[in-house]
Amino acid sequence: MASRTTIITLKLSFLLSFLLLVSVLSVRVRGSIPPTCKRIECPTHDVIEVGHGYEIRHYHNSTLWMSTSPIQNISLVQATRTGFRRLFDYIQGKNNYKQKIEMTAPVITEVSPGDGPFCESSFVVSFFVPKENQANPPPAKGLHVQRWNSVYVAARQFGGYVNDSNVGVEAAALRARIAGTSWSRAIDKSHKDGRASVYTVAQYNDPLEYDHRVNEIWFLFDMESERHAM
Ligand SMILES: *[C@@H]1O[C@H](CO)[C@@H](O)[C@H](O)[C@H]1NC(C)=O
Ligand SMILES: *[C@@H]1O[C@H](CO)[C@@H](O)[C@H](O)[C@H]1NC(C)=O
Ligand SMILES: *[C@@H]1O[C@H](CO)[C@@H](O)[C@H](O)[C@H]1NC(C)=O
Repeated sequence: MASRTTIITLKLSFLLSFLLLVSVLSVRVRGSIPPTCKRIECPTHDVIEVGHGYEIRHYHNSTLWMSTSPIQNISLVQATRTGFRRLFDYIQGKNNYKQKIEMTAPVITEVSPGDGPFCESSFVVSFFVPKENQANPPPAKGLHVQRWNSVYVAARQFGGYVNDSNVGVEAAALRARIAGTSWSRAIDKSHKDGRASVYTVAQYNDPLEYDHRVNEIWFLFDMESERHAM
């Protein structure tokens, strides 16, 4: 009797762990939503493809950003700090309506090659405007609104803290993963057609959160030109 119970228990626990594995896998495949986005608002997107070391997403036209003007610096980390300080003041009420705005994620930094003589790059730092404020985001000196009308993104996640060397490594890894896929032509074309940024770094966590940090490298592109070509 006892052994029969044991066998049933074993079968059950096997079944349970199998089900658990299936659910874990399906959560992974459905995307890689950073834990932060369960607490605060993040822009919604469709996952078009989960590739090996990359993910293709589609962000809709409800993606509104409040952006700094270009910040010249040699350091992405420093420029992001400068930009974020300005955006943090903005959401704390330093805007024309003296309105407070909820924190969202991610904060993104678009990186463009600089044209100055000192190898500085140019960085635009942006805050995702909550849906609630999108109809009438408070204007503020030195900041401007960017609306994404149907933007595609090739994304790659990495953990830990962003620094001035790991972003380059991750961007190169994303480039390598994308090469030879059906997306590489559209991405190359968008880069040539004047999307000036080389890549964008998305950071989902507060600097004081040490665990489960999520960052992403994004290549922005659009598919419109592809469609016309067909
Ligand atoms: C966003 O796209 C929808 C259709 O997908 C369209 O009806 C709407 O007018 C667009 N909004 C803006 C602000 O472009
Ligand atoms: C880069 O940013 C840091 C921190 O905001 C600032 O102290 C430094 O002067 C900046 N460098 C340049 C060349 O603007
Ligand atoms: C940057 O981060 C990577 C890990 O992502 C780490 O190995 C490296 O030491 C860091 N570099 C600096 C200069 O902090």
